[in-house]
Amino acid sequence: MHLDEKIWLFLSFGMIMIFMIFTGYQALALGYGPPSHKETIDPQKVDQTAPFNEPGIKQIGENEYEVVMTLQIFSFTPMDIEVPAGSTVHFTLTSKDVVHGFQVADTNINAMVMPGHIQKITQKFDEPGEYLVLCNEYCGAGHQAMSTTITVK
Ligand code: CUA
Repeated sequence: MHLDEKIWLFLSFGMIMIFMIFTGYQALALGYGPPSHKETIDPQKVDQTAPFNEPGIKQIGENEYEVVMTLQIFSFTPMDIEVPAGSTVHFTLTSKDVVHGFQVADTNINAMVMPGHIQKITQKFDEPGEYLVLCNEYCGAGHQAMSTTITVK
């Protein structure tokens, strides 16, 4: 074996080891959860736990809204959300049963919503239109019917 072959072999093996150590460390440090899911909730008591006891949309500033939403088989609560164009919307999400997805077409929103975890996402809606909201995690027989809209006008 040539010396440079040995060097490359050593380097690639070393890289694999570094990646393994790094991912292993990340999993341990973050407790195997997705990084944004730092707040937890009892998934059995979503209806009794603030703010999810009152899901809905609330104006919190001049162009700022808060949407508290629960996801459950096979729907989003609240169903239809309407905000003026130019609004910044802070979503606070949780699931009442299984893992769902929260994907909003024409935005970068694409999140996993897990039972027991609170997912927070902020998005500014500049362009008026109907934004399709989809569940993109397979959650059962009604998965493909799980959708709603966000209207920006
Ligand atoms: Cu909820 Cu798929």
